[in-house]
Amino acid sequence: MNYKEWQPVLFEELKKHMASVPDKSPAHDIDHILRVWKKCEILGKQLKVDMEVLIAAVFLHDLGRHFGQEKHGELSAEKAAPILEKIKFPEEKREAVLKVIRFHEYFVPKEKRDSVEAKVLSDVDRVDALGYVGIMRHLLFYYARGTSIEEIISIIKKRWDSIELKESREVGRKDYEVIMDYFENLEKEISG
Ligand SMILES: [Fe+2]
Ligand SMILES: [Fe+2]
Repeated sequence: MNYKEWQPVLFEELKKHMASVPDKSPAHDIDHILRVWKKCEILGKQLKVDMEVLIAAVFLHDLGRHFGQEKHGELSAEKAAPILEKIKFPEEKREAVLKVIRFHEYFVPKEKRDSVEAKVLSDVDRVDALGYVGIMRHLLFYYARGTSIEEIISIIKKRWDSIELKESREVGRKDYEVIMDYFENLEKEISG
């Protein structure tokens, strides 16, 4: 099946899931998934990944993030498994999808992400915390909770350095420049 045919199917499942979760995380909502997919699709074509595995992993990777816990790779994989079965996703590819989901979070040692699909998703997930959306997220989640601008800049730099593939860096470079420019100028203005 062409990977594009999975998009409406996965989107439907994601919408259903989001309608019933107990503790929705706005930073990981459907908009985030669609932004991540847009960039993953570009990268996936460049890197010749299994697009079926990639699209399923992207749409289902944050299912477990809406249950009040920050750590969510394992729970997302648990929630994704019955969905893959239900939509009759190719059986021989299911484990690969679940593995990408299970290990997508930044704190999981990168050695665990031993497929290109896993690296692409994890990288693009980080890129989504940059750019204009990233500025908003950092102001809401860090600055509003007392993190200094200096510290925010260092968090962003660390995140950028942890991106694995040079191709992902290219896709995210403009977003990185946008967010760094904003916070560096903000720091200058605040410190006078
Ligand atoms: Fe996630
Ligand atoms: Fe995500």
